[in-house]
Amino acid sequence: MKILFVCLGNICRSPTADGIMRHLIRERGLDWTVDSAGTGNWHTGKKPDARTIRAAAAKGIDLSVLRARQFSTKDFQEYDRIYAMDLNNLKDIQALASSDEERSKVELFLQAASNVQEGVRDPYYDDGLFAPVLEEIWDACEQLLDNLTSVHSAGTA
Ligand code: 4NP
Repeated sequence: MKILFVCLGNICRSPTADGIMRHLIRERGLDWTVDSAGTGNWHTGKKPDARTIRAAAAKGIDLSVLRARQFSTKDFQEYDRIYAMDLNNLKDIQALASSDEERSKVELFLQAASNVQEGVRDPYYDDGLFAPVLEEIWDACEQLLDNLTSVHSAGTA
């Protein structure tokens, strides 16, 4: 299974989901591929936001090794599932899909995790949001992983 998380800048929300999901799949002994990207290219090559790195480090997750990159249409072939962190990201990625098969790989993160048609709040302009957003992403990643693994083992769902 190959999973990609996508937000706007790839320095706050999607690297957080990326690092947490890598941690959870390692904990569960799964050999999955996880990555993240941004719909925008302003931060390409940069580390996650220092506030994002700090919030994750407080929970034992090291995000300092990650580097931002822009989402590419090649990602539609490369990944099995593409999770958009908010509704704008979802719309932007869907607009780049060139077939129904590609479009079917794209889903809203919180919808896939907990059946909620909402985006993860963007913490970029609000220092106080980094810790709560990380908690929200952590819980959703656990649920998403439960959903993905139960679909796998049950065959039908
Ligand atoms: P992210 O947050 O999409 O969660 O990485 C943002 C990062 C940067 C900007 C906006 C949102 N920005 O405008 O540069």
